[in-house]
Formats: sequence, C-alpha cells, structure tokens
Amino acid sequence: MSNIAILEVDGKRYEFPMLKGSENEITIDINNLRSVTGGITTLDPGFKNTSSCESAITFLDGEKGILRYRGYSIEELAEKSDFLEVAYLLIFGELPTKVQKADFTKEIKKNNIVDEDIKKILDGFPRSAHPMGVLSALTSALTAFNPKSVNVESEKDMFKAVCKILGKFPVLVAWTYKKEEGLPLAYGDNSLGYVENIIKMMFERPNEKFVMNPVVVKALDKLLILHADHEQNCSTSTVRVVGSSQTGLFASLSAGISALWGPLHGGANQAVIEMLEAIKEDGGDYQKYIAKAKDKDDPFRLMGFGHRVYKNFDPRANIIKEAAEEVLNDLGIDDPVLDIARGLAKEALSDEYFKSRNLYPNVDFYSGIIYRALGIPVPMFTVMFALGRLPGWIAQWKEMRLRKEPISRPRQLYTGAPLRAFVEEAER
Ligand code: SDX
Repeated sequence: MSNIAILEVDGKRYEFPMLKGSENEITIDINNLRSVTGGITTLDPGFKNTSSCESAITFLDGEKGILRYRGYSIEELAEKSDFLEVAYLLIFGELPTKVQKADFTKEIKKNNIVDEDIKKILDGFPRSAHPMGVLSALTSALTAFNPKSVNVESEKDMFKAVCKILGKFPVLVAWTYKKEEGLPLAYGDNSLGYVENIIKMMFERPNEKFVMNPVVVKALDKLLILHADHEQNCSTSTVRVVGSSQTGLFASLSAGISALWGPLHGGANQAVIEMLEAIKEDGGDYQKYIAKAKDKDDPFRLMGFGHRVYKNFDPRANIIKEAAEEVLNDLGIDDPVLDIARGLAKEALSDEYFKSRNLYPNVDFYSGIIYRALGIPVPMFTVMFALGRLPGWIAQWKEMRLRKEPISRPRQLYTGAPLRAFVEEAER
C-alpha cells in the first residue's frame, strides 16, 4: 500500500501522508489540508469517518467485535482482573505490581472523603432531579473544593489528582443515589475493597446489619470493567474537547457526564429497561415494538440495539448477557423482563431490517437487567455507567494533555445568508 493519498481538485494534485496504526488501521493525515488547498475542509457530521486523535489506550474493531484496554482483551480482563486494577492499567498504561496496587489503593482511601459543604449543594436539589444532572453538578463542584489545577507534567501531581477523583467520585455516586431515595448520606469503610465500599455506601441502611453479597460485588466489578473505556465515544470525545482548552480534570469529567446522559449514548441503559417494562405492561408483545422500530414514520428505536462502531456484535453485550443469567440465578430472581429481552433479541437478530443494518444488542441492552437485580433504581443506571467510565475518561484526558494536543476547534461549511445591509425596524 502507498503511504501517500492524493487529492485532485480542479486539476491540481495534493499529497497527504497515510499513517498506519499498531493494529494496521489506516488514516490520512490532513493536518495541513486547509493551508495547502487554500481553504478546503472535509465535512463529516458525527465524525463517523474522522480520527480525532492518535491514542494508545483502547483498541476496538467493530467488524470483528474486538475490545482491548492497553492490549489486553476485555474477555480476559473481565474474567481475571478487577475494576481498580483495570483503572490503573487504563490510566498508567500497565497492570500494577502488588506494591503499585497497594500504593494506589492506599492513596485512593486517603481521598475518599468529600468536603461537608458538598452536602449543602446536594440539599439544594429537588429529590425529583435526575441523578445524572446531580452527579454532573457535584463533580464540577469538586473544583471549588480542590481549586489547585493539576500539573500534568508532574507524575506525582497527576497520581494524586487521579487518586483524589477515584476516591471522591464513588461518594458522589452513592450520595446522589441516597438523595434520590431520601435516605441518609453515609461513608463506606476503608477496610473494604473499592467496589465493596461503593455497595456499602449505596445499600447499607441505618437500621439494619449490612451483609455484603459476594455475587453482587463480583457482578458490579465486572460491569464496571466492561464500561471502563471505549476509545473516542461521544462522552470521551467531550472530555477531550473540554480538556483541550486546559479546563481542569474535574470540570472536564463533569462535561463527560452530561454527554453520557443522552439516551443515544449512556442513557440507553435506562431507556432499555423503560422499553422492556413498556413491552411487559403491553402484554409482552415484543413483535409490535420490533415493527415500530422498523417503521420509518415512527421515531421509536429499539433501545440497546445498534452501535456506531460495532457492526457485528458488541463483545461486552455477550459477557453482560452471561453475567445477567448468573446474577439472576445466584440471587434466585426470576425477572420476566429478562425473558422479554431474550425474546426481543432473538426476534430482532433474525429480522432482515436489523441484519441488513448490522444492528445487534450493545452494552446497554442487558446491563440494566443486572442493575435492577442488584436493587439499583432505573434513573441511577447511567450513573453506574459513569462510575465505570471514569478511569477511561481520566486516561484519555491525561493522554490528550500530555501529548499537548491543540485546542479542539472544528471548522464548518457555511450555508447561511450572504452579506446584506441592516434593515431598520420600520422597514421590516
Ligand atoms: C453506547 O460510541 C460508543 O462507543 C458508545 C458506547 C460506549 O461504550 O461509549 O458503546 C455506549 O452509547 C452504546 C449505544 C447506546 N445507544 C442505544 O442503544 C440507542 C439506540 N441505538 C441507536 O440510536 C443507534 O444505533 C446509535 C446511536 C447507537 C448508532 O447510530 P448510528 O451509527 O449513527 O446509526 P444511524 O443512526 O445512522 O442508523 C443507521 C440505520 C438507520 O436506518 P436507515 O436510515 O439506514 O434506514 O439503522 C437504523 C437507523 O434508523 N437504526 C435503528 C437503530 N439504530 C440504528 N433502527 C431501529 N432501532 C435502532 N436502535
């Protein structure tokens, strides 16, 4: 293959270098396109065909259903690792040694208390506030209590900032949940593991002896691993764009939370359960909903189906589907919504409309069934996605800043009015 791409415009030829990634992906470097062509740009709404950056963090192959964090397959990590270790891998590039993991855990535990005044901000929200809006606000508010911006060039400073947010974020998640439920805010217990602490902060009740369920710990740990990063998805791109103006880490993460909230992105896990519940209420007739999803005049989409990149299967969906079956069996839960999900997926996967458009269950299709089995309320599902995606956002923000990427500032194709003179009000 040539390492040059040629563009010909009005008989003039322009050459651009072709770059090859470590997994043999090819891209055309158009860094100087506008300057050498006198102003020509490319148009690519949604950036479906555009690589926004070079990155060494996550590799995914949509055709082959491959997902790897720093070269390790998601299947191996979900089976053999744990969420905190995967967070270290994504952020610092290698699986931690025993000593590194101990230091990481210790520094995080030193930082898992938030300023008491955060409670005053939480008090200001109505209980009906969507947890994603609350979490985004509280995350941004952390900047007020930690105003010193991180010196990304200092490994020590970066390590402390990473441990600070990894320590405080689960508290914000748990308190966001407690606020929605009208329950007292509580801290965890530093003698517990990272995920155990999250579960204790969320589910312990003041008047009951709390019993940690290892099935719940294992299921949540696996779910968080599966959500930890996904290259340049909408919310991660948002964190990079906001961070590219040298906005601080916490404020950049807050922007990512808002981007994840949308039903076409992380908000889909909530929309999936709402859709499955509606089908259940409607007598379980999922064929009717498949017909709606295929009807061009009906805005309804089969939530949890389809993906911008995965055009065969989402490897995470397969792992989560298995985990959902395990959790429901282990907890002795018979959830009719899982049966509807199974039937819906089976029907859609054999339907020409979905097959011809490469629409398969994605990460959000089954995750809500596990969250429900763990007793997490539906509005909190996307918050749990954010909890999982946190290390990926941090890793991508850090990489972008360390590589000194330029401020994100795309161009446009202007299609508005040509120059025209001002019209006085009397003449309008
Ligand atoms: C996540 O990017 C990431 O990596 C995201 C994520 C991550 O980990 O960060 O993986 C997490 O966001 C998963 C996706 C969750 N969203 C949903 O489940 C919402 C439902 N799915 C979609 O709306 C849709 O599939 C997207 C948004 C996920 C992808 O949309 P694309 O790639 O822009 O595809 P498209 O909208 O151009 O659709 C192509 C065709 C269209 O039909 P035609 O115009 O060709 O006739 O497929 C149809 C669409 O109408 N289509 C669907 C559909 N998804 C696409 N039809 C019915 N139901 C659907 N779910």
